[in-house]
Amino acid sequence: MLKINESYLKLQASYLFSDIAGRVKKFEDANPDKDVIKLGIGDVTRALPAACVSAFHKAVDEMATDTGFRGYGPEQGYPFLREAIAKNDFQARGAEVNADEIFVSDGAKCDSGNIQELFSLDSKIAIPDPVYPVYIDTNVMAGRTGNFEDGRFQGIVYLDSTRENNYVPDLPTEAVDLIYLCFPNNPTGSTASKEQLKTWVDYARDNKAVILFDAAYEAFIRDDALPHSIYEIEGAREVAIEFRSFSKNGGFTGTRCAYTVVPKECMAWDTAGNKQPIHSLWNRRHCTKFNGVSYPVQRAAEAIYSDAGKGQVQELVSSYLENADLIAGAVKELGFDYAGAANSPYVWIWGDRDSWDFFDMLLNEAGVVCTPGAGFGKCGQGYIRLSAFNSRENVIQAMERIKTALA
Ligand code: MLT
Repeated sequence: MLKINESYLKLQASYLFSDIAGRVKKFEDANPDKDVIKLGIGDVTRALPAACVSAFHKAVDEMATDTGFRGYGPEQGYPFLREAIAKNDFQARGAEVNADEIFVSDGAKCDSGNIQELFSLDSKIAIPDPVYPVYIDTNVMAGRTGNFEDGRFQGIVYLDSTRENNYVPDLPTEAVDLIYLCFPNNPTGSTASKEQLKTWVDYARDNKAVILFDAAYEAFIRDDALPHSIYEIEGAREVAIEFRSFSKNGGFTGTRCAYTVVPKECMAWDTAGNKQPIHSLWNRRHCTKFNGVSYPVQRAAEAIYSDAGKGQVQELVSSYLENADLIAGAVKELGFDYAGAANSPYVWIWGDRDSWDFFDMLLNEAGVVCTPGAGFGKCGQGYIRLSAFNSRENVIQAMERIKTALA
């Protein structure tokens, strides 16, 4: 008799964004005349940058000739992309990252979900609350937690991110082995200074821990003093793995391309007390379970780093940030407390009522989809998140409708 992995039974019935999509579909089916504006999931709406499109076309044309055709590529990514990433995203900012420490993949969601496979099941995990649900759910699936009780999984060390700490959690009071951090943060839009990240890097070095740093939203940083990468912090190469994505800067949510940085100094320990480089373990996993991102997609991603591509990405990111400003302005006018928007495409709003009730109200009364804060964890209860990823017209209209609904 085949038995299932019972850890899956501990999960909430469905993944947050699938749950929301289901509720929205039900509403749309019941109200076919209502036009719904989606400011829920952080999915981009604008076209791919022209430089990426033309590189994409060119690569497809190459594939159409016997001489230009490529079959399986290197699992870690083509050198042209890994080198462009190392040079532009890290070395240009004074952060030491080499091309052979970059693993190109089809998404930061997959990588941040898969990486935990490398670590023992008894590793103590620290996860912020509220948080991108993938970090929690994948640890639950792996069997690293107890049951879900009173809004939280037993066995996880939750790091509360609240108004009181400006949504930057304090260090854990007990020793942990693996720490998830995300800045600019999803969902709160908060940022961490170099000094704040340094305290985490120091903690990880002192505790032989590793930080999983999700920097998927770094392109939205407007404040020059803020770090874009954890490798801008001294000592981070020993204790941090960083996840990046082309989804939110280049608009690749449907095109799929991302990468993970595993520095060669970053270590974990075996039971005999020997250091094991995480880089070789991740390389082993990547080569065994992943066959690489397609050549045309990697060429399209490389074009993000061309002069034209950089300008076009800048324009895209700025347009979403202007949407975030519009949302924040309207929210302020309505008298709500909020975080985010300044260096992030997300606006985290204190609704002062049940998150799902607020979600239902906005959907029913305004035809606007948000993400209920409670879906990101217990500390998200009472909040909603609005995403700036939509057209200017839709954002303006959504905020007008919300004002009317709340009047
Ligand atoms: C979000 O809305 O939180 C994210 O866009 C989801 C994702 O990137 O997977």
